[in-house]
Amino acid sequence: MADGRARVAASILDADLGNLAYAIRRAEKAGTDRFHLDVMDGHFVPNITFGPRTIKALRPRTRLPLDAHLMVSEPGRFIGEYLDAGCDSVTFHVEIDEPIEPTLRAIRGAGRAAGLAVRPGTPLEVLEPYAPLLDIVLVMAVEPGFGGQAFMKDVAAAKLLAARNYLRFKAHGGEVQVDGGVNRETAEFIGAQGTDILVVGSALWIKGHDMAREIRLIRALADEGYQFGLNNGVPPIPRDRWTPFVRLPRPIATKAMAVIEAGGIPVIMLRGDGPADEAGEREYDLSVPMSAEALVVERHAAERDRWLSDAEAWRASRAPGAVPGTALGGASGRRPA
Ligand code: DX5
Ligand code: ZN
Repeated sequence: MADGRARVAASILDADLGNLAYAIRRAEKAGTDRFHLDVMDGHFVPNITFGPRTIKALRPRTRLPLDAHLMVSEPGRFIGEYLDAGCDSVTFHVEIDEPIEPTLRAIRGAGRAAGLAVRPGTPLEVLEPYAPLLDIVLVMAVEPGFGGQAFMKDVAAAKLLAARNYLRFKAHGGEVQVDGGVNRETAEFIGAQGTDILVVGSALWIKGHDMAREIRLIRALADEGYQFGLNNGVPPIPRDRWTPFVRLPRPIATKAMAVIEAGGIPVIMLRGDGPADEAGEREYDLSVPMSAEALVVERHAAERDRWLSDAEAWRASRAPGAVPGTALGGASGRRPA
């Protein structure tokens, strides 16, 4: 997993379409964080690429996530096939003439991330009705349809930071993605807009260029932009790194985990490295994503004090000679219902 915050999604649009399996292998080896698959129907955009069958065929070729970007007029019609193909996320355009909500719900219902994309000329405000259903906002910095076009900086400046507002229902894991014209010239500016995922197409497939170096450069420049353009010089926290929040005995840890997760923040519960007590019970560490740590502290710092004193009482109740029935229900360690 890459250090830093920015992540690169390699678009294979400008790869050798006659040898996609090789293109996937090459980009994975070069260190891409995931793949961005551009589906075009010749109707929504004046170009045709590939569909769910191709994506399904690529699925076993990599363990990296596959993001589908559907530039099609009727995403709802084939959504089941894209989900069945094994896409980890599906993003389609808000400018279509069919109901949007059912398709977003279908994607989320399958446990995948759902996204809406906006053309350069489409105002972000049209996303508002769908905000509660969005995991991803994809901002197009070129007119969709072709790789290799010039980055529209004014569009990016107006939308990238503002797009975060439409992910406000997600406490953790929402993504602003930028697509079109991303390269070593534009990456620093993009990073300074707080963008999470940089979709990179043609810049990766230039003959004679070292793809691995290009990916590292784009990520590093985006992180530099974030640090100095947005984060007061403080280096960015990796989005996918975890930090321990509290150590508790299992019954209390389980309860605390449910409370934190109910707020939309994922928790990992791991057995702590300390010794087991006389009855073989150990302490458990609850870790939360580093990027959500401040939010977890803001929400749960007071509760954490309570959990810790519950833990004290629980331990005392299990200590040799403790009177059964005290504290949290005595030796069973369970809080009475
Ligand atoms: C364009 C596609 C992009 C394309 C980007 O319609 O959505 O994903 O691959 O290519 P570059 O990076 O060359 O602009
Ligand atoms: Zn795309």
